[in-house]
Amino acid sequence: MPRVVVVGSFNVDHVWQCDALPRAGETRIGRYLTGPGGKGFNQATACARTGAETVFVCALGQDAGGRLARTLAATDGIDLRPGASEEPTGTAGIHVDAGGRNSIVIGPGANAALTAEFVAQQADAIVGARIVLAQLESPVDSVLEAMRLARAAGIRTILNPAPANAESSRELLAVADILTPNETEFAALLARHTGERIDAAEVAAFEDARLHRLCRTLLPRGTVVVTLGEAGAFVSHREDKCRGDDLPHYRVPAYEVATVDTTGAGDAFNGALATSLATVSDRVFADHVRFAAHYAALSTEHAGAAAAMPRLPVGGGPIGGG
Ligand code: RIB
Ligand code: NA
Repeated sequence: MPRVVVVGSFNVDHVWQCDALPRAGETRIGRYLTGPGGKGFNQATACARTGAETVFVCALGQDAGGRLARTLAATDGIDLRPGASEEPTGTAGIHVDAGGRNSIVIGPGANAALTAEFVAQQADAIVGARIVLAQLESPVDSVLEAMRLARAAGIRTILNPAPANAESSRELLAVADILTPNETEFAALLARHTGERIDAAEVAAFEDARLHRLCRTLLPRGTVVVTLGEAGAFVSHREDKCRGDDLPHYRVPAYEVATVDTTGAGDAFNGALATSLATVSDRVFADHVRFAAHYAALSTEHAGAAAAMPRLPVGGGPIGGG
């Protein structure tokens, strides 16, 4: 079974569902639930549930949250590689409104203790992978180490540059084969690394040629997939890398579903994309993105983050194809 290595965060999510997101100074009454989250763990869960042999490199506290991660990883058959920390396991406070939109505050806790040394100790898993996938809820030098090890071994890397206000560097972007920002992260990366200021809310409405140009400036040698929520995704490839039917840029529509909670939809997208790329070789890139977009849509039909990831192997089922 092809292997995906995910390097990233585990959080215990504390979720309040309310009719509208609270404004500053406002108190609202909602419904509380808790469950597993963290962009890293959500993506690892999506990988495992779409049929990839999944390794998850993370950092956990010695507490109930850490034990929860171990139990859940075992249930989903995820090969957990947990670095230890004296800090409490990561947490997130999440508000979800009636339309499924959210706002999130993260307490990194143990996630901040994931070291580049610990990542380097997982080199056996990384060099045996088909895809290495990381986000930015872990220290940037640890993520860089994972991506560097992968690149040195000729393994394809996906960087999901989330959350938008996370630290990142040109050096890190340079080791990403595929970059998957949402529109907010895309605007933040452009401002930080190219000096170009754009309005995140306008990105979906940009002309394709302009979006393509912006993507090329951000990641000249790789592929950029800008996820646009209800507007689907925009894909931009390096032109001299396009072969056969590959177009340099195109859009993939979103799938309409009965959305309850969009928390973790981006993670569902990234995990499914990683599995599809790792598992199915006779599929054009656009079809990998279509699979990921469909999987992400389905994940919004359920409350929660990791818990909401559908079990849907990439090779079977209604959207499995390939
Ligand atoms: O992407 C969603 C995730 O962001 C949540 O599970 C929360 O833990 C935060 O990391
Ligand atoms: Na969800």
